[in-house]
Amino acid sequence: MSKIGFVGLGNMGMPMALRLVQSGFQVVAYNRTRTKAESLKGRAEIATTVRDVAERTDPILLMLTDTEAVEDVLFSSQGMYERLASGKTIINSSTILPSASKRIMDRLKRKNIGYIEVPVLGGPVQARAGELIALAAGERDRYEDNLNIIKSFATKVFYTGQVSTALSAKLAINQLTAVYAQSLAESIIFAEKHGVDPSLLLQVLNSTGYRTSFSEQKGPKMVRGEFEPTFFLKHMLKDLDLVDESAHDSKVYMPLMSQARSSYLAASNLGLDEKDFSAIISMLRQLNKGNH
Ligand SMILES: NC(=O)c1ccc[n+]([C@@H]2O[C@H](COP(=O)([O-])OP(=O)(O)OC[C@H]3O[C@@H](n4cnc5c(N)ncnc54)[C@H](OP(=O)(O)O)[C@@H]3O)[C@@H](O)[C@H]2O)c1
Repeated sequence: MSKIGFVGLGNMGMPMALRLVQSGFQVVAYNRTRTKAESLKGRAEIATTVRDVAERTDPILLMLTDTEAVEDVLFSSQGMYERLASGKTIINSSTILPSASKRIMDRLKRKNIGYIEVPVLGGPVQARAGELIALAAGERDRYEDNLNIIKSFATKVFYTGQVSTALSAKLAINQLTAVYAQSLAESIIFAEKHGVDPSLLLQVLNSTGYRTSFSEQKGPKMVRGEFEPTFFLKHMLKDLDLVDESAHDSKVYMPLMSQARSSYLAASNLGLDEKDFSAIISMLRQLNKGNH
């Protein structure tokens, strides 16, 4: 059995790599900051360079921050590209610009290297449980060949068609999440200002058809001001930037998304980048200070 490569052991990458190990795959993993790979020692091989991963494994999963990180790992002077043999497959689970994903696929194709994009929905908790939702795009055969790998961390997998469509679907859902989180924050603050116990408000909301796993799980934490990150606010802003750029290119008018993007930018400017994205409520609280 060939070894699977895994690059990017962050909040999501680490539990996804662990799922691969638990499913019986032999994994060679790499993280730029080596200390973060420590907890995989003894369960997977830890590579010291991405070139080592490129030479020794197939397929190779990438779970990196953004477009720049993926291009860096693949195409920089110390990147994988030179060392990838013809016929290998890159599975990119990082949320990046859909048009960049296509560009990356085209560049890899010149060396007959396959590429599928497999962005995921759900956070580290779902990743640990192997219960992510995966969206997959690219050559159908290559997708089917790698389905067992994807199923080690995802309970549902949707094939969306050609490269860029899975990322576009993922971004369509993330912008909805961003708007929803801001809207819930506004409801909580509005209720508080009008003498309603915000915990009671959440109990009411979670008894209605407008309940979501977000309102159930993150809502109480927003009320208490607990923002331990599962999805960094800076990454939500990054995703909204990707939606904005894609929407601009295709001339899609998205007024709520644009407004949410400005809000997350303001939250980022207030120093909330490393908090969970639900800390959007902190930004709104600060702007509503003294407004009793
Ligand atoms: N968290 C979620 O709930 C969630 C859910 C679905 C999708 N996503 C998406 O999944 C991706 C990863 O998210 P995450 O939450 O795991 O982020 P994260 O914790 O910030 O991890 C990012 C990873 O990328 C690596 N990296 C960044 N730039 C690099 C570069 N130039 N070269 C090599 N490695 C680089 C980091 O290495 P270092 O450790 O050295 O910094 C780290 O391993 C993002 O695209 C995010 O939007 C996240």
